[in-house]
Amino acid sequence: LASVEVDLAPIAEGQGIKVNWRGKPVFIRHMRAAEVQEAQQADVSSLRDPQSFDDRTQEGHRQWLIQIGVCTHLGCIPMGIADGEPRGDYNGYFCPCHGSHYDNAGRIRKGPAPTNLEIPAYEFLSDTSVRIG
Ligand code: FES
Repeated sequence: LASVEVDLAPIAEGQGIKVNWRGKPVFIRHMRAAEVQEAQQADVSSLRDPQSFDDRTQEGHRQWLIQIGVCTHLGCIPMGIADGEPRGDYNGYFCPCHGSHYDNAGRIRKGPAPTNLEIPAYEFLSDTSVRIG
């Protein structure tokens, strides 16, 4: 399938889901306001792959973080999208293969991964519906 439509309504604040798109896992997280604020306040210049939170999300839909769930080191699937999974030292995503720690915006903070988790092309069809791809 070239694109996939996802109903966001069932995803409560603070929760995330994993969907498949072109054979890859896509992580969709409904961030709490405090998490969005924290991610926006990070010192971007200190990051390995400097990118602001606003560059990783869309205006009017900042609470939805949509990323490809593939570690940019060697392609393992990081943990942290489902409840109870380890989220690493930066309370985001953790790749157990070689220990890459991503922050809650999916930006690499520690470990061997060279770049942030990739953001796929996506478009909001409404406040509760998004098309990925
Ligand atoms: Fe994720 Fe190596 S594949 S740290």
